Amino acid sequence: MASASTLRHAEIAGVGHYVPSRVVTNAELEPLMNTTDAWIQERTGIQERRWFEEGKDTTANMGAAAARMALDMAGVTADDVQLIVFATLSPDYFFPGSGVLLQRELGMKASTPALDIRNQCSGFIYALSVADQFIRTGMYDTVLVVGSEIHSSGLDKSPTGRGVAVIFGDGAGAVVLRPSTREGHGILSTHLHAQGEFAEELIVREPSSNREKRVEHILEHSEELYPTMNGQNVFKHAVVRFPQVIGEALTHNGYEAKDIDLLIPHQANLRISQYVQQKMGLPDEKIFNNIMRYGNTTAASIPLALSEAVQEGRVKRGDLLCLAAFGSGFTWASALIKW
Ligand code: UT7
Repeated sequence: MASASTLRHAEIAGVGHYVPSRVVTNAELEPLMNTTDAWIQERTGIQERRWFEEGKDTTANMGAAAARMALDMAGVTADDVQLIVFATLSPDYFFPGSGVLLQRELGMKASTPALDIRNQCSGFIYALSVADQFIRTGMYDTVLVVGSEIHSSGLDKSPTGRGVAVIFGDGAGAVVLRPSTREGHGILSTHLHAQGEFAEELIVREPSSNREKRVEHILEHSEELYPTMNGQNVFKHAVVRFPQVIGEALTHNGYEAKDIDLLIPHQANLRISQYVQQKMGLPDEKIFNNIMRYGNTTAASIPLALSEAVQEGRVKRGDLLCLAAFGSGFTWASALIKW
């Protein structure tokens, strides 16, 4: 049943990010996978990415580092968090999810619930949307949303895997959601979509529970543990779905593209972002890209970009901010935020 509390909005009270210290340039990939800096930059805009350090970085503790920064900015402690929503496609374990590990890492109260989200490149906006609903209904006041990924340990770094391996990087981002005390501000709406028809277009097939002998199968077909992508088809759908889902968020709230102060697209490929920018008629100062430095960090890419945008003073109070994503599933999503 609806109550007065359903009318409230959530706002992003804090943002944070963490990236591993190891910088991997395109030049470093050249001898590994028969690629060139020129090819990677021309097709994707990526110049370098971060790769994790074994024994130091984990999906959960990178998320925790980003979370600490977001909690600090929000002026709350880990014990104030009433729900963790953790988005990743590269969890520390097959199970349990990384949310419980983050809870432990942050030394939170033993009972704080942790929810794991598996929606790949759209994972952060799906997670944000779930968190937003809990705040709108009045169930929770402080929700921590995290996106964290370690891709580098699971990529095929041989010439066979070059079409995928050059794109992905490691990193983490986090936001803290709190109820907004300012009328008409905060997360205005979120819009989520999926099309399972294309599930295999960008996929890690194994380990699959559908195998009678899962473990034996992996031992014999270890190459199926690597991600594979039909890049051209993913690209084709991305350039349609991004403008569509951004348009949906704008129309829902009575805005037009020209009203956007900053668009933060999921950092899939700089060419996709540029296409979307042009399609929406946005000048350079109204779009934020950092894929050049981090590659595609899937569920981490939007909070990582948002945190940097805030740090760089690109987001001001009262700005209309649009987040949008598309990726494996296919899944796509957007969020419109009055900062
Ligand atoms: O995160 C959300 C999901 N992901 C995306 O949104 C990614 C969407 N797709 C893309 O961004 C692009 O499709 C890629 C960047 C992945 C690939 O670019 P493309 O222009 O679609 O290249 P392609 O796959 O059509 O390959 C063109 C050529 C091929 O050679 P031939 O057959 O023309 O001789 C590939 O073998 O480029 C070759 N190639 C490479 N060459 C050097 C593929 N990967 C590489 C590489 N270095 N890393």
